[in-house]
Amino acid sequence: LRQKYLAATADAADEAALEAIRVQALGKKGEISLKMRELGKMTPEERTTAGPALNALKDEINSALAAKRAALGDAALEARLRDEWLDVTLPGRPRRTGTIHPISQVTEEVTAIFADMGFSVAEGPQIESDWFNFDALNIPGHHPARAEMDTFYMARAEGDDRPPHVLRTHTSPVQIRTMQERGAPLRIIAPGRVYRCDYDQTHTPMFHQVEGLALDKDLSMANLKWVLEEFVRAFFEVDEVELRFRASHFPFTEPSAEVDIRCSWEGGQLRVGEGDDWLEILGSGMVHPKVLAAGGIDADTWQGFAFGMGIDRLAMLKYGIPDLRAFFDSDLRWLRHYGFAS
Ligand code: PHE
Repeated sequence: LRQKYLAATADAADEAALEAIRVQALGKKGEISLKMRELGKMTPEERTTAGPALNALKDEINSALAAKRAALGDAALEARLRDEWLDVTLPGRPRRTGTIHPISQVTEEVTAIFADMGFSVAEGPQIESDWFNFDALNIPGHHPARAEMDTFYMARAEGDDRPPHVLRTHTSPVQIRTMQERGAPLRIIAPGRVYRCDYDQTHTPMFHQVEGLALDKDLSMANLKWVLEEFVRAFFEVDEVELRFRASHFPFTEPSAEVDIRCSWEGGQLRVGEGDDWLEILGSGMVHPKVLAAGGIDADTWQGFAFGMGIDRLAMLKYGIPDLRAFFDSDLRWLRHYGFAS
C-alpha cells in the first residue's frame, strides 16, 4: 500500500492528480480509511501493531502529498518566469492626451483676467424661473424684449397655470440671485450656458455668456469703462485699445451702452486696437434701480454697473474662427486644425 501511494504521488503531474490520490487513499471511502475502520474488529493484540502502523502510513502519505504539491508550485512559477517575458526596449504605444475645449479655455482666461480685478465667480441654474429671467430684470410680461429673446419654455404640468420656467436666455438672472444671496458691495462675473431658439453661422441654440456685476458706493460709468478696457487689453493681448460706448437700451440698465472695440480685418485676421472698423463685443450699463430693488439692494446707498458678453464670440474673434457651430460639433479634425487638440 505504502509503495503504491508513494509511487503514485511521485508520478503525479498536477494538483488534480494529487487530489485524486488523496481521495483514493485517505478520503471517506479511501483504502486506508477503510482499513482504519476495520481496527474495531481486531483483537487487542492485532490492534496495537496495526493501529500505529496505519497512522504512520497516513501521516507519511499526507506529507508526501504536501511536498509534491509544493514542488509542482515551484515548477509552475519557474515555467512562468521562463515563458512570460517583456521586451522593455520596444517603443511605447502612442497615447493621445485629452485637451480642454476652446470654450472652456476662453472661459478660464476671462475668469482669470477678472479675478485679477477682484471679481469672483457666481453661478445660477440653466433652467430658470420666469421671474428671475425676466420680471426681476425689469422685463414685465408684455415687454417686447421677451419675444425678441426667442425663449425656450419648459412644459408645464397639467392644471399648473404659473408662468412656465425657461431655459435662461442670458446670464443676467445671476445678477439678481447673487444680489439676494450676498448683498452689497459685490464684484462678480457669471460665466455659463444660455439658450435661444436660433441657428445660423453665428448663432447656436445653446451658447455661452459671461455676466459682470459690480455694486459699490460711488460707482459710475467711468469705473465700468476702466474695467472693460483692462479686460479687452488683457484678453486680446494688446497694449492699447480704444472702446466706443454706443447709447443703447436694455430694460435692466439705465443708462445702457453697447461697446465696440477699434479693429481692422486683414485677410480675415482680426487686429484689435488699430484700423477703422468697430466690432461690437458686449452690452452694458448702470444697474436699473428696479433691478437693484429686486435683488434687495438699497438704491439710495449703492450703485452698480453690469455687462454681458458672448464667450463663444470672444473665442471666434480671438482664434479667427468663422463658424460658431463648429465649436459644438466635436470634430477632432477641426479641433486639431485650430490647435485645440493633439
Ligand atoms: N443680458 C444682455 C444680453 O443678453 C447683456 C447685458 C448684460 C446687457 C448686462 C447689459 C447689462 O444681451
